[in-house]
Amino acid sequence: MSSKRKVLLMGKSGSGKTSMRSIIFANYIARDCSRLGPTIEVEHAHVKFLGNMVLHLWDCGGQESFMENFLVSQKDQIFKNVQVLIYVFDVESREFEKDLRYYQSCLEALLQNSPNAQVFCLIHKMDLIEEDKREETFKRREAEVLRYSELAATPLQSERQNAVCQCFKSSIWDETLYKAWSAIVYHLVPNVGTMEDKLKKFGAILDADEIILFERATFLVIAHAVLREHKDPHRFEKVSNIIKQFKLSCTKMGSKLDSIQVRNSQFSAFIDSFTQNTYVMIVVPDGNASAPMITMNVKNARKVFE
Ligand code: GTP
Repeated sequence: MSSKRKVLLMGKSGSGKTSMRSIIFANYIARDCSRLGPTIEVEHAHVKFLGNMVLHLWDCGGQESFMENFLVSQKDQIFKNVQVLIYVFDVESREFEKDLRYYQSCLEALLQNSPNAQVFCLIHKMDLIEEDKREETFKRREAEVLRYSELAATPLQSERQNAVCQCFKSSIWDETLYKAWSAIVYHLVPNVGTMEDKLKKFGAILDADEIILFERATFLVIAHAVLREHKDPHRFEKVSNIIKQFKLSCTKMGSKLDSIQVRNSQFSAFIDSFTQNTYVMIVVPDGNASAPMITMNVKNARKVFE
């Protein structure tokens, strides 16, 4: 299979497509995004990911005239050979019905031209919703998106092997952006299963609670092995978000992030530069933590994961 993956980013103008790709792939911080202008037609970005994979991002401007061209005159060009469609909905949109109809048309075009593409819908700008209403609002929007997804897919359903779409809530102002994008790239990385088996073995040798692999440039989670259950289901994306910000601050000061250790009364976490394209995080119960031992094991394990 070619190492190039075509990823379509679609959704109405101002929903936040360029902002999220700039934060994940171009080292923007959230407050810089208000300066971004609208995308004209399609902006192409080629992003190197995990060394030999190239994500070809098609950031499709969401103004109505562009959307109509994508669906009529440029339909074949846009929707052919797509691996992933990411459709972004502004949670506060006053025209959610209309957004859903555009989504349905895009999905129909996609299913005709790339029947095995994966589809992810992001209910975005969740920070604008009061915290105690977020889950309920998301569930309501998700139900509507799934209903329209079924409408688009029905005639072609029998040809598809996977579910029509997965929904995530997201915001550029917190870690939800990393959860959604980690889930997306997880589907694009080949051999994740083999990598996770190796991580599990490595974790057992170290008597670790868990081991997580992060892609070096984006700090997205690409694989993990959990050997002991942990209470906080959002811990990976919180680490991605915090360490990415820290890494950017280091770069600004002209230094390079190599390793970090964090200790509390229950566990120690070691984040270390690992292979050419990854960082690793090893979490061990505190009694088991000997920094030189972990460092030596990380060094020895590198060649198995290169
Ligand atoms: P087009 O290029 O016209 O299709 O728009 P777009 O979808 O690329 O939108 P863009 O990324 O340019 O974002 C529009 C505005 O939304 C910017 O001012 C961003 O700062 C803001 N924005 C993006 N994401 C979020 C978010 O999660 N929360 C909030 N509150 N604002 C956001």
